[in-house]
Amino acid sequence: MAKISQSLQGMTDIETPEVRVWQTLEVRAREVMDRFDFQEIRTPIVEMASVYTHSLGDTSEIIQKQMYAFETRGGKQVCLRPEGTAGVMRYVAGNLQELQEARLFYLGPMFRAERPQKGRKRQFHQLGTECIGPPSARQDAEVIALQAALFEAWELDGAEFQINTRGSAEDFPAVLQGLRNELLPRRGELCEECQRRLEENVLRVLDCKNPACGEVVDALPPLTTWMEAESVAYYAELKSALEAFGVPFVENKRLVRGLDYYQHSIWEVTSDRLGAQDALAGGGRYRMQASNKQIEGVGFGIGMERVLLTLSEEVQSRMIAEQSPLVFLVAQNEEARGVHLQSLSDLRQAGLRVRMDLAGKSMKAQMKAAGRHQARWVVLLGEAELAAGQVQLRDMESGEQEAVPLSSLLNVLLKKAS
Ligand code: HAM
Repeated sequence: MAKISQSLQGMTDIETPEVRVWQTLEVRAREVMDRFDFQEIRTPIVEMASVYTHSLGDTSEIIQKQMYAFETRGGKQVCLRPEGTAGVMRYVAGNLQELQEARLFYLGPMFRAERPQKGRKRQFHQLGTECIGPPSARQDAEVIALQAALFEAWELDGAEFQINTRGSAEDFPAVLQGLRNELLPRRGELCEECQRRLEENVLRVLDCKNPACGEVVDALPPLTTWMEAESVAYYAELKSALEAFGVPFVENKRLVRGLDYYQHSIWEVTSDRLGAQDALAGGGRYRMQASNKQIEGVGFGIGMERVLLTLSEEVQSRMIAEQSPLVFLVAQNEEARGVHLQSLSDLRQAGLRVRMDLAGKSMKAQMKAAGRHQARWVVLLGEAELAAGQVQLRDMESGEQEAVPLSSLLNVLLKKAS
């Protein structure tokens, strides 16, 4: 039995100092979203299960194996959201008039009952976007460019954009039939799972990791073979728009994505720093039924845990160090404590990060605490300083100490901290 002090398997506490990296990524992400004029939407974590079962596709792994679904006391079938898109579509469907051209982003936990391993959690976090509107290859490219801008803002290198097309929803029957016709004569060479997929979900044969299936798939003509000319042109326009936006990409003819709602452009971002779970992000254009309304759009989800696994140590240490330096107030006696309490408020109000001991500990214990909390400066106030209207300001890095008039402490610290 798991100890009560442990979090559930596949779900982790994000603690200091790592949480500072998260915060920096979030701050930078919000800046990028602002530049692209995307607005934040915060949808609930718990949704009606049907929001997901109706849109992700019965054969998708998420629906078949990974949903945390349960019945409420009132008998409703609900689930913890396994991804963001379907929930956002539920929201958009309820406000379609105002949200026809919405550019939305979200950041938060998602839940999938998977076998945990490096880069694969049961509670993980996605930064996602959904840009509502009818098919437009340029729009798809702009959303990919937004994703590239995020990676740049995060100083994340080594990410590769892989793109492909699934064609329009109208192309699907011809594409699936064409694929089946090609694969049936070689059925015996496919793994058991893919033999089943031939009937149920033939597209997924394309991204099977089994090398034998890979050989068969490599010999297949591209999916565009069975698409209408408009869809082929759409894909060509996507590629030229990506070039115009300056986003490098590679084409991956085996990329299909595991969710049924996609059509036209699909993409994944991989990193060679990730190992088996190498997808940093996935996205694509979709068409979905939500509350009896058909909604079209394009978006992506970035796995934040995987971003952290990909970021270099050097960048992460810099992000952690970006926190403003700590000022620690140390008092020798009760009177000094009273003066410091006032300074505590004044310095904080001016934007400095400040703390002091409030439990009445000895000077020695206070100095120890300042060291433990990695204070950059200590402000010492004893009897002699009180009499002179001064404080001793100690630089904990250099060990140097100077007397500063109490009345100018704020200005001196602000200057040093800037
Ligand atoms: P997805 O490919 O299922 O797409 O997930 C997006 C990203 O979430 C993955 O590339 C991965 O980085 C991360 N991720 C997924 N599962 C886990 C896990 N168990 N542990 C850690 N990270 C994980 C979607 O969710 C779509 N809603 C994306 C989208 C938005 N398409 C259009 N709009």
